[in-house]
Amino acid sequence: MKILFTCLGNICRSPLAEAILREKATSANLDWLVSSNGTNRFHKGDAADPRTIKVGLKYGVDIRKHIARRFTFSDFQKYDLIICMAADVFDEMKEFVTDEKQLQNVIISHFDDPWYGDETDFERCFKSIESYCDNLILEIKTKETVKIKK
Ligand code: 4NP
Repeated sequence: MKILFTCLGNICRSPLAEAILREKATSANLDWLVSSNGTNRFHKGDAADPRTIKVGLKYGVDIRKHIARRFTFSDFQKYDLIICMAADVFDEMKEFVTDEKQLQNVIISHFDDPWYGDETDFERCFKSIESYCDNLILEIKTKETVKIKK
């Protein structure tokens, strides 16, 4: 299973989601490839936002080595599941679409953008991503089990 989280800048929400899901999947013995990127180009090549790094470290998630990447057209083919982390992210992703079939593996969820916020917003962001990842693992694992039983 190859999963991609996409936000706008790839410096706040999606690097956390990538690291959290990867860690949870590994703990659950799931051989998943988890990655992240952003639809805009403004932070390409940057490290994660210091506030994101800080909240991650508080909960044992180390994203100090993260380098921001931009979403590319070929990602539609590369991943089994692409999670747009907000509706405006999806609006930007649509610019990359050349065939509507590319959107069949894309889902839209919603995580408030903590970029303009304070430490509390980053904390809230971490918690909501964490519970989202728990649910995602449960959902996908259940689906895979059903498939195996067929
Ligand atoms: P992210 O947060 O999409 O969660 O990485 C943002 C970071 C930067 C900007 C917007 C959102 N920005 O406009 O520069």
